[in-house]
Amino acid sequence: MPSTVIAPLKIGDLIIDPPILQAPMAGFTNAAFRQIVREFGGAGLLATEMVNARGFVWMYEHEAEHPDRLWGVGDEPRPLAVQIWDNDPETMAKVGKRLVEEYRVSVVDINFGCPVRQVTEKAHSGSYLLREPQRMHAIISKLVVACAPTPVTAKIRLGCHPNNVNCNEIAKVVEEAGAAALTVHGRTAADMFRGNADWDRISEIKAHLKNIPLIGNGDLDSAEKVVAAFERYNVDAVMIARACLGRPWLFAQAAAALRGEPVPPEPTLQEQRDVMLHHYQLVVDRFGEEKATILMRKYACCYAQGKRGARHFRTHVAKVSTAAEFHAVVEEHFPLNPVQ
Ligand SMILES: Cc1cc2nc3c(=O)[nH]c(=O)nc-3n(C[C@H](O)[C@H](O)[C@H](O)COP(=O)(O)O)c2cc1C
Repeated sequence: MPSTVIAPLKIGDLIIDPPILQAPMAGFTNAAFRQIVREFGGAGLLATEMVNARGFVWMYEHEAEHPDRLWGVGDEPRPLAVQIWDNDPETMAKVGKRLVEEYRVSVVDINFGCPVRQVTEKAHSGSYLLREPQRMHAIISKLVVACAPTPVTAKIRLGCHPNNVNCNEIAKVVEEAGAAALTVHGRTAADMFRGNADWDRISEIKAHLKNIPLIGNGDLDSAEKVVAAFERYNVDAVMIARACLGRPWLFAQAAAALRGEPVPPEPTLQEQRDVMLHHYQLVVDRFGEEKATILMRKYACCYAQGKRGARHFRTHVAKVSTAAEFHAVVEEHFPLNPVQ
């Protein structure tokens, strides 16, 4: 039970309650996944996968379809954040305006944290921009004007490299440029996912922000860790990524713990299996059997992760390509015995 009452998060005029956010994750946090998270509850704000702003502009200039990554965004419940990336202020502003006017999103988030070469070295975007604070300022300030009054937020890492941790300086730039909140993943880009997220560093950033809230992110995988993050570190909210992929009920558990209520138990393995099959059906409804089955392989592995027989299940599910095969593999191999 938290020793103090945890206040809701304010992003501009938007109230996020509870202050627990579902992180953007490319390849994972599509509308089907978000629906599953919403059905369990506990996440105050959900986010899409990152959307490439340049690609989006190209698509609407050519009257092509909208990016797949915006599937669901127009219709689903709010609040919802859409994350975009690029290094060109004009392009970002164009897309932000469209997201606000046409899709009526609650928050436009900017990706300044992606460490993947395709985004950094090839497109000079994502975490690459942490070495160019002036450009970050230009992107944010343009986007803020284009999206007003919808809030714009930024998501960063601690810096590009352990030898160049500049998050305190970046935090000031982000606030001065008009962002309404800052999320920090407590690793540098060069760290990728190695080592532990450095929550002391995240916490230090708070002293460099005047008014906007700080959202801490990295390695939170239990309700207890979420409560401890609020108690030990100077953050206004937390964000969860990897741990919710196979455990979308984690937000509800963390939210209960923050309210000082008993943490709901993990669903039984049978219930978890049913959640996964429901998730699969949502994906099939959208993408059709063939594409959905291939897409679902990776989610299925997440649902099995940490369970007895997970490796065996993974081996089999990695090969399925029809609904019948998927159901047969789940029936036969999804772990139904808890780890002893
Ligand atoms: C598969 C995967 C995809 C991700 N995609 C994004 C993304 O699109 N945008 C983003 O800002 N961060 C992305 N991240 C980073 C997460 O949002 C988060 O910052 C990071 O995983 C640390 O949080 P965690 O320890 O709770 O996983 C991704 C992470 C993973 C594992």
